[in-house]
Amino acid sequence: MTEAAAPFWGPDFAELQRVDPEIAQVLIDELDRLRSGLQLIASENLTSPAVLTALGSTLSNKYAEGYPGRRYYGGCAVVDRAEELGRARAKELFGADHANLQPHSGASANLAAYAAFTAPGDTVLAMSLPHGGHLTHGSKVNFSGKWFDIASYGVNEHTELIDYDEVRDIALERRPKMIICGATAYPRLIDFAAFREIADEVGAILLVDAAHFIGLVAGKAIPSPVPYADVVTFTTHKVLRGPRGGMIVCREQHAKAIDKAVFPFGQGGPLMHAVAAKAVALQEALQPSFQDYAGQVIANSQALADGLAAEGMRPVSGGTDTHLSLIDMRPLGVTGAEAETRCDAARITLNKNAIPFDPQPPMTASGIRVGTPSVTTQGMTEGDMKEIASLIGRAVRDTDGSTAAEIAAAVDVLVSKHPAYPRG
Ligand SMILES: Cc1ncc(COP(=O)(O)O)c(C=O)c1O
Repeated sequence: MTEAAAPFWGPDFAELQRVDPEIAQVLIDELDRLRSGLQLIASENLTSPAVLTALGSTLSNKYAEGYPGRRYYGGCAVVDRAEELGRARAKELFGADHANLQPHSGASANLAAYAAFTAPGDTVLAMSLPHGGHLTHGSKVNFSGKWFDIASYGVNEHTELIDYDEVRDIALERRPKMIICGATAYPRLIDFAAFREIADEVGAILLVDAAHFIGLVAGKAIPSPVPYADVVTFTTHKVLRGPRGGMIVCREQHAKAIDKAVFPFGQGGPLMHAVAAKAVALQEALQPSFQDYAGQVIANSQALADGLAAEGMRPVSGGTDTHLSLIDMRPLGVTGAEAETRCDAARITLNKNAIPFDPQPPMTASGIRVGTPSVTTQGMTEGDMKEIASLIGRAVRDTDGSTAAEIAAAVDVLVSKHPAYPRG
């Protein structure tokens, strides 16, 4: 094989069908699901062909424990280039001193942050799960809740916003070693300067878990936490539209501690195909068009929240500043679980979600969470959000499933105008 004839040995679907028709069929069916429905899961997106190509490459073969120039295995000079490019792009995109692209996931990135700055038994202050925090922010079933003394803050019952005075009071009382801000289901902007002030007052490290909104930061659509945080952890697969994975950026003084906490403390060899795909996603996010995308994600999210409110549902906190909304379904007498199932029957994918002070157990939940990263990638705009809100309104009221097929047909019309992964 000469280089000119075949410069790249890439994904070969016909070969997969020959070797493993069952898994090939799973890939076809999942692509079909993405193409034929509306994806409103706030933590998902549709990665580009360039990112998928890097993921499906022979970089998956390489063991590269360590960091560029300091590996425990030979033959790493080529993959080093991917990680170096990715680190440089992350530093440029986020104006950060240091970047680590190796965390396998957002949870791994958070484990590394805990490991870099705390020891088991230390007090950590984070947002409570029922108010929007993540499992790694102190859940009893997670390492964070098992190994750390967790102090929690929530949102104010009336405003449904973070109450910074309350955060400060708890911090002064509990004296945490680390404070975490960032959430899984909080639709509003977070005041990073206020958190910095509180952290400084009690001598705590400030970790911003930007998993959900880092893509909006990359697209300059919302303020950046980087100037305020000691360390920022995030996932690469949400609004940022990269491969499934995690990443960390931090101040120079923490670079060594973070790198050691990722490897060898929490992980073995990096997934070099994922590292390369993260570098590709960062390159895409550096383009001016990504700023248009991030701005449109928020415009769509606000239009969707307004549309759902017009359908009789209640956006928690009155609306959204970001890619996601949390919607209280109680005004319609529908639970989050019922809404999820009914929408699913009409090929509208979203998730049930607890709302603050939720009287329902988490598996039932009073709310749903909806996000616009995927539909915006498909090219939909505010008018389409109005249509989606109306379809959701019809679906959640459909108690016996009698109109699911009719709603799904309307979904078909919408997605045929804005296809995910267009053919040809
Ligand atoms: C705020 C936050 N942190 C961390 C994570 C964990 O990411 P992963 O599922 O990649 O471990 C998530 C995932 O949704 C998240 O929302």
